[in-house]
Amino acid sequence: MPANAANLRAFCTLRQPLRAVLAFLAAGLVSVPLLAAAPPPLLLGTAWYPEQWPEARWPKDLALMQAAHIRVVRVGEFAWSSLEPHQGQYHFGWLERAVAEAARHHIYVVIGTPTAAPPAWLTSRYPQTLRVHADGRRAQHGNRQQFSFSSPLYRKFCRAIATRLAQHFGHNPDVIGWQIDNEMGPPSFDAVTRHQFHAWLRRRYHTVAALNRHWATAYWSQTYQHFSQVPMRATNENPGLLLDFKRFVTATWASYVANQVQAIRRFAAPDQFITTNTTHWGDQFNQYTISRELTLAAWDDYIPEGRYHWLENGVQDDLVRGYKRRDFWVMETQPAFVDWAPVNAALPPYAMRELAWQDVGHGANAVLYWQWRSALNGQEQYHGTLVGPDGEPVPAYHVVQTIGSQFALAGAALAGTSPHSRVALLQSYASRWAIDFQRQTDRFGVVREFTAFYRPLERFAQSVDVVSARAPLGRYRLVVAPALNVLSHAEAHHLAAYVRAGGHLVLGPRSGMKDSFDALWTSRQPGPLAALLGGHVEQFYSLLKPVALTGRFGAGQASVWAETLRPQASDVQVLMRYGAGNGWLEGKPAIITRQVGKGSITYIGAWLDPPLMSTVLDALARAAHVHPLIRGVARNVEVCARTGEGKQVWILINHGAKTHTVHLPAPASSLLSGGAPQRDVTLAPHAVSVLLAARS
Ligand code: GAL
Repeated sequence: MPANAANLRAFCTLRQPLRAVLAFLAAGLVSVPLLAAAPPPLLLGTAWYPEQWPEARWPKDLALMQAAHIRVVRVGEFAWSSLEPHQGQYHFGWLERAVAEAARHHIYVVIGTPTAAPPAWLTSRYPQTLRVHADGRRAQHGNRQQFSFSSPLYRKFCRAIATRLAQHFGHNPDVIGWQIDNEMGPPSFDAVTRHQFHAWLRRRYHTVAALNRHWATAYWSQTYQHFSQVPMRATNENPGLLLDFKRFVTATWASYVANQVQAIRRFAAPDQFITTNTTHWGDQFNQYTISRELTLAAWDDYIPEGRYHWLENGVQDDLVRGYKRRDFWVMETQPAFVDWAPVNAALPPYAMRELAWQDVGHGANAVLYWQWRSALNGQEQYHGTLVGPDGEPVPAYHVVQTIGSQFALAGAALAGTSPHSRVALLQSYASRWAIDFQRQTDRFGVVREFTAFYRPLERFAQSVDVVSARAPLGRYRLVVAPALNVLSHAEAHHLAAYVRAGGHLVLGPRSGMKDSFDALWTSRQPGPLAALLGGHVEQFYSLLKPVALTGRFGAGQASVWAETLRPQASDVQVLMRYGAGNGWLEGKPAIITRQVGKGSITYIGAWLDPPLMSTVLDALARAAHVHPLIRGVARNVEVCARTGEGKQVWILINHGAKTHTVHLPAPASSLLSGGAPQRDVTLAPHAVSVLLAARS
């Protein structure tokens, strides 16, 4: 498209340095910018697939979106066959027109690179790019994600399409960001990947003797003479191998992402963000590593059976916020229901509102509904949408419209704000993987256990960060590691330094058992932190029945897992013991603690029942000078605070069926309903209140 002088001027003034503009003018790559202003700080959006519909329909769709306050669409992430219908023939005109039409409706665009769904010309001409399943079967064309993440040839095609897209749209101010691929995950077990795995092992261990030592391969005569003998398996293998395979998969997806990120960055304006969308608790690879290459993290927030538990969703928002330790996007969420659960029950309308505002309260700056309208055919015909097959709104549209109007009212106040927590939960992929490889009891679900710690902490502190064990910890008064099973020397050193600097560290059951090769530490749990703790785990037990505990925190029970602790230093205090009649456990310490200067280290050796977990964690939080943001709040009322730039925004959500009043620490004005500043906020059942307080 020819450059348009007026728009170009707006473009230069508001969004782009002149130098960059001249550069693409020279390259002849300018498209007409229609939305010159920066996008709103809080965006409502949807996944839109213009390639599936006649162009004549687009203005109607976009007008309906605009009427629902939708300000962003994600497009293109499965459109490879429309963008490059034949090898090397790029057809971007339709996408350019779709972006321009969206802009005419004041809607910004995120472009997804289409690499999750290779076109048939690619997979038929180059079948070696197809993924091989763990059982050796090669994937076929006809679904999505059928490619091998490690195939150099596939990556060439990915780079080419990402480059072309970035050249074309990289300076289009109506395009605000990029999504790489879509929900990456499945590895490939083909010969090329296997070769790369061996090369990766060689780089990690240098000699096969070192690998044999760390994996203890004398066990079952697994000893290798060459790296090339090492099998590539994701289950039922030596735990050292399994953990390294996960790391290799992480490194391989990271380089897969980097390949496209580099292509885009080369041509795109620096203010276009780059992200990828991740899944519900996804642990296919280490998300902290993958996120390094990206500008921001994003996730797809689905409640498959329509059963919304706010704390179970909140922990995942916090998890994703921790990937880059900053605000994030919810790139997909459901309009009422999905189509892939055993029972695809709908979220009630009020839960859709609560969910959207909870995401924002935990740091999301955009919430996008998947999807706008179902393709008339294809695998997802039953999925929730915002308009029906006739193109007219379905009931969920009207709920989303209300959410959109609220986002429009509150968005400006949220600019530059984020949640800031004083409590951190440490999340470790290596630990999650290691426990999953060898659960010892199938009742030990790592996510369940993690959430069991999160729930009371979030209720008490009303803000919890979930971060990696390597994250900077200086800002936290309390750091809790629910099951830090794999604990490297470096991580132990980092945690010990935090405690010595006055921090309060709590380790949960199964912590500090393994080194970074998934081998047992010879000092018993918590391994390299045992000396600081002044005690260690004597023995672990899987439980069939709950066991009683008594001590400083009264009486309660533990289930699933129990470890007996042995204090060694004289200043270790026993806080709880297992009660009588518990066999091996009877009378043994279950929780011990030790002061270290102004800091402390505490070890909780059992999976405590919910009331006891609350009592223990509340007491430990209080001792660490952690206070609720707002005191005296009812159990079903969620308090979220976003602060920054001299502002404090409260997001109060009543997840319950009774009316509650929240007494704010200082008056604040309702952004949704207006009126005079208030201190007492009454929340009807399932109501949301968003308030701006002046901050000193
Ligand atoms: C996501 C995926 C979307 C769509 C959606 C349906 O996992 O990214 O493309 O399939 O699920 O819920």
